[in-house]
Amino acid sequence: MLKHLIPSRRNPPGEEPIFALNAEAQKRRAGGEQVVNATLGALTDDAGHLVIHETVRELWKDLTPEETAPYAPLLGDPTYLKAMVQRYWPKLENPGAACATPGGSGALALSARSFLEPGMAILTGAPYWGPYNLFAAEAGCRIVEAPYKTADQPLDLDAWSLAANALMDQQGRLLVWLNDPCQNPTGLSLSHADREGFLEMLARQAARGPVVLLLDSAYLDYTADPAHVRDALDQYAAYAEKGDVLIGAALSISKSMTMYGARGGALAFPWCHDPTLATALGLECRGLWSAAPKAAQSLVIRLAKDGHRQEKLNAELRHWSEVLESRAVALDSALRLEGLAGTTWHGGFFVTLRTEEPTVATENLRTQGVFVVPVGTGIRVGICSLRAADAPRFARALKNLG
Ligand SMILES: Cc1ncc(COP(=O)(O)O)c(C=O)c1O
Repeated sequence: MLKHLIPSRRNPPGEEPIFALNAEAQKRRAGGEQVVNATLGALTDDAGHLVIHETVRELWKDLTPEETAPYAPLLGDPTYLKAMVQRYWPKLENPGAACATPGGSGALALSARSFLEPGMAILTGAPYWGPYNLFAAEAGCRIVEAPYKTADQPLDLDAWSLAANALMDQQGRLLVWLNDPCQNPTGLSLSHADREGFLEMLARQAARGPVVLLLDSAYLDYTADPAHVRDALDQYAAYAEKGDVLIGAALSISKSMTMYGARGGALAFPWCHDPTLATALGLECRGLWSAAPKAAQSLVIRLAKDGHRQEKLNAELRHWSEVLESRAVALDSALRLEGLAGTTWHGGFFVTLRTEEPTVATENLRTQGVFVVPVGTGIRVGICSLRAADAPRFARALKNLG
């Protein structure tokens, strides 16, 4: 007899088995086994503890009930939205058409619902963060891929152009999700020249129909090269000002402030001041989650008013970027010592190592007590949780795959 109804939706293909792998790694570790768990998507220190930036701890402790309990405005607090966009584009005077969302996830999901009709597709660079499939599917849409950058090659602009053209032919519009700079899962950023070609390609499509480029900015505070990230953000801003393509950002405090659970995010189109876009976003927010969490917004507002704490947070972000870089370098050296291909890291919490049959490789590594996540082109290694000291063991396990 049917005891309860099960929603008919099934996981879309490609959804990552992260939860099962992570649960097993934790269980085996609790049982006393020395496992290497590189499945995590949160920053941990070398003792395995979750990193929560000191500045953010202080700000959170200072919040009063009045800053957490009331509903936030439906579109989000305007001061919060301004502070969120100014963190990356300090010269902007206002956030444009924008709304607060539960994390960057909320912003991505909202963009699919706002700009596409069911049956349409979102274009993104592969490999990509698995939940993109789910956000697309929840809007009745799907993901179409073009290859993301590899360490040794420029972006394959022909492939992007083909994919974009085909989608524009089919649906008369284009929504692109681009997780640049500091991509999950590759750990790579586009070069200035890649970006130039990419934006030109979008401009050609914009002559045929509306194009929206949503920059997923989840990881850009963790980088080996802050000047490169600055250049990327300036390049996007200069292009956005031309107005051919609607450029927006999926903003988040999950990684940038290590406030994953506060669910602070925003979907912002800082170079667009069309009130109909803001109204449409507001209605979508209301229909999906009413208002986004208030406490996260209050925290960001406090930070925006406190220059000393901003400096302190920036210093913490630099420190942890250096830790991530040293882990990436240790992994690269260990892989080369085993005679394997090394790895390149520009930013973010991950690198992807090319492997044949990623699922088989993941399974084999699991039996050796090493946990990773299979992605389209290889295995994703969370350097956010892989200690530099574990790099040699990791590389040996990979070498054992033969
Ligand atoms: C590529 C990417 N984009 C966006 C997010 C959004 O995270 P959140 O919804 O916690 O802001 C994540 C989180 O893991 C991510 O990896």
